[in-house]
Amino acid sequence: MDSRNQDLVLRLRDRHQDIVEPQTFELLGQEWDLLPGVYAPHLTPSAALYAEWLSYPTGGSFCEMGCGTGYLSVIAAQRGCASVTALDISAAAVENTRRNAERHGVADRVTARCGDMFQPLAEDERFDLIFWNSNFVGTSPGESPDDQLDRAFFDPGYAAHTAFLGTVGRHLAPGGRVMLGFADLGDPAMLGRIAAEHGWRPVTRRCAVGEYPDGELRYELIELLHS
Ligand SMILES: C[S@@+](CC[C@H](N)C(=O)[O-])C[C@H]1O[C@@H](n2cnc3c(N)ncnc32)[C@H](O)[C@@H]1O
Repeated sequence: MDSRNQDLVLRLRDRHQDIVEPQTFELLGQEWDLLPGVYAPHLTPSAALYAEWLSYPTGGSFCEMGCGTGYLSVIAAQRGCASVTALDISAAAVENTRRNAERHGVADRVTARCGDMFQPLAEDERFDLIFWNSNFVGTSPGESPDDQLDRAFFDPGYAAHTAFLGTVGRHLAPGGRVMLGFADLGDPAMLGRIAAEHGWRPVTRRCAVGEYPDGELRYELIELLHS
């Protein structure tokens, strides 16, 4: 990652650390709850892109890995998914997702569970679409590695990506699809190597440049196909 991008991600993380009280934010014409320590989607242009780019399985099942505030899980339910399972390693993110599902009247269709990757699921739970807006920054500033907020940004050595790619296939329904939200802060070569080791081939389906006050990032929606 070049130093401009490194500065951008550290500033973005600092803006998250300034959030110390529960608050609300506006995104995609709706109001959402945000708890301290949870990734704040309104601070990046990617949230609107992923919400628009995803093909939600109408009447089917959607699993959001790393749900954060749960805005996308709620939108998936609003767009017609019959069942949405939202997973996150952060207990605050899971509570945040439950609040947003209640706020938007979709708690009957959105279930949020806490744990590492797919660990909260039963072995036979399968989905038509699994999506993760991942923590694609592969290095960390080396501070408090157990900090939940840091896990929203950084995945040193792509350990979480390796776990995701090694397990995701077991939770796909027949014909199901796997998508990743990625950006040029990430390491596509490392992603490609890990994907190949687990029988996947990343293919970029959509991309766009997102503007920040102090720079820009290129965001991608990547589909993982069986190789
Ligand atoms: C970039 S944030 C995306 C949050 C939310 N989906 C959004 O788009 O606003 C990545 C999310 O992945 C979660 N995460 C990181 N490692 C994880 C793991 N091992 N298991 C489950 N979730 C994880 C983080 O806690 C964080 O909420």
